Amino acid sequence: MFVLILGAPGSGKGTQGKILAERLAVPKITTGDLLRAAMKEGTPLGLEAKKFYDDGKLVPDSIILGMIKEQLDRPEAKNGAILDGFPRTAAQAELVDKTLGQRGQRLNHILLLDVTEDELVRRMSARAQVEGRADDAPEAIATRLQVYQRDTAPLIAHYAQRGIVHRVPGTGTVDQIAGDIKRIIGR
Ligand code: AP5
Ligand code: MG
Repeated sequence: MFVLILGAPGSGKGTQGKILAERLAVPKITTGDLLRAAMKEGTPLGLEAKKFYDDGKLVPDSIILGMIKEQLDRPEAKNGAILDGFPRTAAQAELVDKTLGQRGQRLNHILLLDVTEDELVRRMSARAQVEGRADDAPEAIATRLQVYQRDTAPLIAHYAQRGIVHRVPGTGTVDQIAGDIKRIIGR
């Protein structure tokens, strides 16, 4: 089963994706984590990505598309995966559809985590104090929220046409939300 967790920055994609991936015994693929690892290692890809990441901008598709393809082609992801943080652009969505389609697969569910902007800002600002993520600085948070609305939110309509989008209230306890997700996808 392939499940895409979609939602604004700070909406809980990583938190819920981890729980779901463990329950379904499939890998969670998180482009943000891959980028953070590359930046930490200082690879050429990481250094290039950092120019965008730190400001809260999307890393260009020229960098991300290859990363997505490589991850989806891994043997571990043969029968399913949780997609966390991608696709984020129309080109990424097209690549995911094409890659899965060539294998006779498709995205089965899209979970849209719905959280108010005030709560998103509160969560990311709180995390900034603890983890010090560069893109949790106030200006970068504002940019991330704008970029989500402009580039990623339009994907909701794209997938809604296929009838696979489930809106999940993203406020409440982590367990409550995980329970809602379990009910929605039926396992
Ligand atoms: P990415 O790493 O994907 O970050 P994001 O989408 O901005 O979102 P976060 O990871 O901050 O939040 P989340 O939704 O995972 O929520 P979480 O569970 O952590 O992307 C970062 C950057 O990388 C992008 O800006 C871009 O530059 C680049 N990038 C990544 N993918 C890309 C792509 N495909 N294309 C181009 N560029 C890309 O929760 C957030 C916080 O809230 C945590 O502290 C958590 O503990 C807390 N929390 C979670 N659930 C709850 C709850 N129910 N109640 C209270 N607090 C909660
Ligand atoms: Mg995340």
